[in-house]
Amino acid sequence: MCILANQIGTVISTDEGPSVTGFSFVIDEANPVRRGQFVTVESHEGVLIARVSDIVKSNRYYQRAESVREYERSGKKMSDLFPVSRWEFLIGEAKPLAVFSSVLQRPAFPPSPGTPVHVADDKMLASFIGLDAKKGLHMGNLGNHDVDARLNLTKLFQKHLAILSISGGGKSYLTSVLIEELLERKPEDGQIAAVMIDTHGEYMGFAEDEKYRNKTTVVSGRDFKIGVPDLSVHLIEELIPEMTSVQKRELERVIDEMREEFKGKVFGLTEVANKIAADERIKSNTKDVLMANLYKLRNTGFFGVADNPSMDVLAKPGHLTVIDVSDTTSLQKRQMLVAYLGRKLFQARMDGRVPPFVLFVEEAHNFAPEGVSKEGALSRNVIEKIAREGRKFHASLCLISQRPIQLSTTALSQCNTHIILRVTNPYDLDHIGKSSEGLTRDVLDIISSLRVGEALIVGEAVNYPIFVRVRERRSKKSERGVPLEEAAVAYAKGSAQRKSDAAALMDDGEQ
Ligand SMILES: Nc1ncnc2c1ncn2[C@@H]1O[C@H](COP(=O)(O)OP(=O)(O)O)[C@@H](O)[C@H]1O
Ligand SMILES: [Mg+2]
Repeated sequence: MCILANQIGTVISTDEGPSVTGFSFVIDEANPVRRGQFVTVESHEGVLIARVSDIVKSNRYYQRAESVREYERSGKKMSDLFPVSRWEFLIGEAKPLAVFSSVLQRPAFPPSPGTPVHVADDKMLASFIGLDAKKGLHMGNLGNHDVDARLNLTKLFQKHLAILSISGGGKSYLTSVLIEELLERKPEDGQIAAVMIDTHGEYMGFAEDEKYRNKTTVVSGRDFKIGVPDLSVHLIEELIPEMTSVQKRELERVIDEMREEFKGKVFGLTEVANKIAADERIKSNTKDVLMANLYKLRNTGFFGVADNPSMDVLAKPGHLTVIDVSDTTSLQKRQMLVAYLGRKLFQARMDGRVPPFVLFVEEAHNFAPEGVSKEGALSRNVIEKIAREGRKFHASLCLISQRPIQLSTTALSQCNTHIILRVTNPYDLDHIGKSSEGLTRDVLDIISSLRVGEALIVGEAVNYPIFVRVRERRSKKSERGVPLEEAAVAYAKGSAQRKSDAAALMDDGEQ
């Protein structure tokens, strides 16, 4: 393998280095270098791989403030008197990451001044980062290198994933790319199921797209139903956390008895309410609370005689199920839906009834909020449960959020890979820095300058944090996800059309 490709500079001696933690190099003007790029230098341990953390311009003529000021005051220009341009240098600063000999090691020695610096070789870089060139999920290409960023499925979803950025940073776009990759996998490479909690109806495009239509099912939040005969005490607990243990016990007993009594025949909340009303063993104050809770549940409109969607529709290998909750406006109802669905899905996975899956949760901070009472966070429990225990069963979460600070720290801390797009808020940046393992200050600094479509990937999926330029999506964008400008233009066109239709109608009327 040719490890040392094109030279881009030479290691120099400075007050601070070269050291094991950093070195500077003077950049060869003909070969531009970019911040974040991987470079290599030979050291006596092997080939040292480093990341360019900064680029600085230097010119000795302008180093002394007092002399620059004197010249400028005298009305003369330094550049007229001295060959200043010949003394301008670009200095790259690099942070060593590892030494590549027969194995990867931590660098124990600095490179020597005078050593040539090269751009890291593409093949070596892919193996160094731990990319999966053959079967990996193709997210885009490595910033500043001609290397496809193909993430290994197991490493990415063995645990959980968080996708974080400001609103408009490109999270949903990137998630669509990720879903395309999951849907396009061949059965022999391992296909998993994708379930999307779609808060804005942004993923409906998959169902309209010729390429993905057959691999996509959309379930509207309005059609979502919780089958009453399947209600267990855990689920009831999840949905009405304020119930006391006596109330839960009584409710479960009644539902158990009804299952026996109805033997396969269906029953709904009304039958349960009637049964409770008639049951003399339940104390009247318990009864009142139970009835009030049942009415509360019934008013959601979520309860029916059977589950919809059923589990076999919900999770299929190589298939996407979009749960469109955009038409369910109440947050509490949305949380109820996620709480129920998450628990059922996880249970079905533990029982081996559904394939390994990824549950994508858009606006995850609304479903697993930090520091909110149980009653205001009905789905937090199940998300945290999958976050803690899902790994053993190949039940993964992909939490998508523009409010990482408001996202359950229990859930976020279990996300072993983070994909971070543009983040500008210093509090969010600080929070991300603390919750993403392996993020050094120099990498964190680049996040706020990321452009839309550029992502930082850090964690289990990669051996070292990488910057990726997200590839173009292949799936159709949902009509509902269009940007403001497009929506305004479409409205204006529609409005012009409506006016001319109205005018035509008037003309017709006059004839
Ligand atoms: N990689 C990309 N390439 C091209 N356009 C992108 C890319 N990522 C995002 N966009 C565009 O930027 C806008 C915001 O992206 P979106 O994914 O909706 O952001 P978020 O979900 O973070 O709010 C959309 O119009 C989208 O099409
Ligand atoms: Mg979005």
